Amino acid sequence: MEDRKANIIAVTSIIFLIVVIIVARVVLDLKRSFYLIVGAAVAGILAVIAFYFIRRHLHHRRTMMETRLASEGKELRIEYSFLRKVAGLPTKFRYKELEEITDNWKSLIGRGASAFVFKGITKDGTAVAVKRIQHEEERGEKEFRSEIAAIASVQHVNLVRLFGYCIHNNLRFLVYEFIPNGSLANWIFSRPRLTTRGNDIGGGCLSWGLRSAVALDVAKALAYLHHDCRSRVLHLDVKPENILLDENHRAIVSDFGLSKLMTRDQSRVLTTLRGTKGYLAPEWLLELGVTEKSDVFSYGMVLLELIGGRRNVTVIDTGGAGDRSKRKFQYFPKIVTDKLKSGRLMEVVDQRLMDLGGIDEKEVRKMVHVALWCIQEKVRRRPTMLEVVKWLEGRVAVEEPPETQMIVVDLLSIDDEDDEGEGQNGNKRKKPKIIARAASQLNGCLTTSTNSLQSKSFSYSMSIISPR
Ligand SMILES: Nc1ncnc2c1ncn2[C@@H]1O[C@H](COP(=O)(O)OP(=O)(O)OP(=O)(O)O)[C@@H](O)[C@H]1O
Ligand SMILES: [Mg+2]
Repeated sequence: MEDRKANIIAVTSIIFLIVVIIVARVVLDLKRSFYLIVGAAVAGILAVIAFYFIRRHLHHRRTMMETRLASEGKELRIEYSFLRKVAGLPTKFRYKELEEITDNWKSLIGRGASAFVFKGITKDGTAVAVKRIQHEEERGEKEFRSEIAAIASVQHVNLVRLFGYCIHNNLRFLVYEFIPNGSLANWIFSRPRLTTRGNDIGGGCLSWGLRSAVALDVAKALAYLHHDCRSRVLHLDVKPENILLDENHRAIVSDFGLSKLMTRDQSRVLTTLRGTKGYLAPEWLLELGVTEKSDVFSYGMVLLELIGGRRNVTVIDTGGAGDRSKRKFQYFPKIVTDKLKSGRLMEVVDQRLMDLGGIDEKEVRKMVHVALWCIQEKVRRRPTMLEVVKWLEGRVAVEEPPETQMIVVDLLSIDDEDDEGEGQNGNKRKKPKIIARAASQLNGCLTTSTNSLQSKSFSYSMSIISPR
């Protein structure tokens, strides 16, 4: 269109020029002013022609550029969404979509300290678990970001897959693949079949063979997070509730709400957020910073619970009537150590499994040895998860573990008093002593200097965020 217009104007201008020359020639009789008028007319027409040609050229170039950018942008978008899909990266969901997927939050399948989890079905028929993070804004946001940062970049058969996320006003949501058999806790601890709002969330007694398989699955997932990812990922909340079982009862590690990313040259991470009582390594209880060995400790505690089918820390009320000063901790790791020493190891195995029979003592011994190595209080004595995998697979023999002080139980007892409100029955006075003793036992096994260790340990304050 522009081209035609330019041509018409150019032709009209030339005709006009010729007419002007003829008229001027006749009327002015070749005077000097005739040449001046002709010159001005020619210059004007040339200017008009040049203007239209330049405009046409620029317009053409702009159109070409726009077409190219549009097609490149489209290609990039297609490529990006394809790569996201191939790489399994999470996508953004709209709140309305989540309402549809979960049928208006009908089916509650689990709840933890920080979240409600609902079952949903996406448009393409995929079963998902939608986690609604409940915490007050700042901590909720922190957990939401930790979880996305850690899980979005990792891919492993024994780690839960994050499909997407959603931010709606102050609410945060994570959309995970749905793991049908719920958490490991429902399969190892004996308690009535659990339901949430009338939904059966599964459970039973996991066989010895499957318990060994679960132990290996979790070890492989942690070894991958600690050693095979570009930035090391610390899970920091390894416990049976955060291990899910798929349709074949194989383990899928989930819940990265407390996780931390660590660069390869970082030796430890200082974190104020706390995991769950009974699984925390002493260096974490003493706020001395965490490393991947803190996960190893929690893993060892889970391993003992798998073997025994019971919680590691149980409170026995010796005084009755809820008198907390008379309460004592029964610490399963201590019982296991004693039974191992006295040659009565099989007594620690879950009684339900013993009743079924067919359990190989050699296998039990191996699992117990691995667990006791993992819960060594001196950080450097604990194995890496790679070593644990080799032990469990039987590629390397496990030696008998050294005895460990089990100071965790003391630390837990003062935590228990903190929960109640400190200062009862002189407990407040006992607290610094216990902490100092614990710190001195750990001393030398961390990179922290003695001074900072002690000043840190005396400013000790418990803030466990997710009690069972
Ligand atoms: N992908 C999933 N598939 C099936 N069930 C799930 C899934 N994710 C979570 N659940 C269930 O919901 C429960 C709570 O989930 P999750 O551990 O992620 O929440 P949380 O509030 O972060 O827990 P915590 O108390 O450890 O902080 C789990 O123990 C499990 O029973
Ligand atoms: Mg959890």
